[in-house]
Amino acid sequence: MSENLKKLPDTVRGRDYIETKDWTNEEIELALKTAADLKVMFKEGKPHRYLPDKTIFLFFFDKSTRTRNSFEAGATQLGGHAHFIAAETSQVAHGESPRDMGIILSSYGHAVGIRHDLVPGEGNSYMREVAKNAQVPVLNMQCDIDHPFQTLADLMTIREEFGNDLRGRKIAVSWAYAPSYAKPMSVPQGLITLMPRFGLDVVLAHPPEYTLMKSEMEYAQKAAKENGVKFEVVDNMDDAFKDADIVYPKSWGIESLFHKPEEALEISKKYKHWICDEEKMKLTKKEAIYMHCLPADRGYEVTDAVIDSPQSRVFPEAENRLHTCKSVMALTM
Ligand code: CP
Repeated sequence: MSENLKKLPDTVRGRDYIETKDWTNEEIELALKTAADLKVMFKEGKPHRYLPDKTIFLFFFDKSTRTRNSFEAGATQLGGHAHFIAAETSQVAHGESPRDMGIILSSYGHAVGIRHDLVPGEGNSYMREVAKNAQVPVLNMQCDIDHPFQTLADLMTIREEFGNDLRGRKIAVSWAYAPSYAKPMSVPQGLITLMPRFGLDVVLAHPPEYTLMKSEMEYAQKAAKENGVKFEVVDNMDDAFKDADIVYPKSWGIESLFHKPEEALEISKKYKHWICDEEKMKLTKKEAIYMHCLPADRGYEVTDAVIDSPQSRVFPEAENRLHTCKSVMALTM
């Protein structure tokens, strides 16, 4: 590390980051503060090589634009190297175990990132098995339960907009129709479990078939109670959007039908009217912002008029993926 760089705290050094729930509020605050500092250094063109000669392996079981590129660019900017591996090109495709993978990759480098998000019940367990056997941090680049780098970037974006005190502010997390593919449940689950911890009232809206995992719903209810905020579930977008400060409408799949995409697509067609358009945005507060983790199905989940409007924060949100992943890499590796 360059001598001119401020030393980062060691409080989460060596730790996994698999779900935001695994980190205390103080640890999340440290990640957010470090991300904000790294963002300033990046914007000012100041070197910030916190990870010289360090390697992170990025193991992808699914496609990615933002996650892969923010980690690869971020590792380089931190003075290290991110090594991309498509799962189907590795021996995992021939059945090599997560245990062996964790042991071997941790003997070659300093962290393992994994994206394994498509099938409920698989990705998180896989990562935890790797983590149990790895000697280096395992970072969740999206699983079936959580997308902790996305929601950290979302919280950073929300705070940039409204300040750190979010009490009295409301986020509407809503299902929306998308014909492209059954999107994972991890983003809405990550939002409902993280945001109440940081003072936001949360309203979740979805058609009856699109319930989220029981464990995540219970955690969200508990977190809301403990933090004195509201967590409410409604069955339509309009009720969720009413007087919201932040709207986050996006599609996700049906938990029991990820193995039956055609059946799931047929059900989703009943709900094509679940689209975020200008009429729906009129229900929100005047200063409300529109968010989406991207990629969005334009014309289905959201109209161009909304996603390209002054209320949209999708690009700052995507940008913050870089600063937040660099923060967690710099703090843990
Ligand atoms: N939001 C997000 O994770 O984007 P990618 O799927 O492109 O990584």
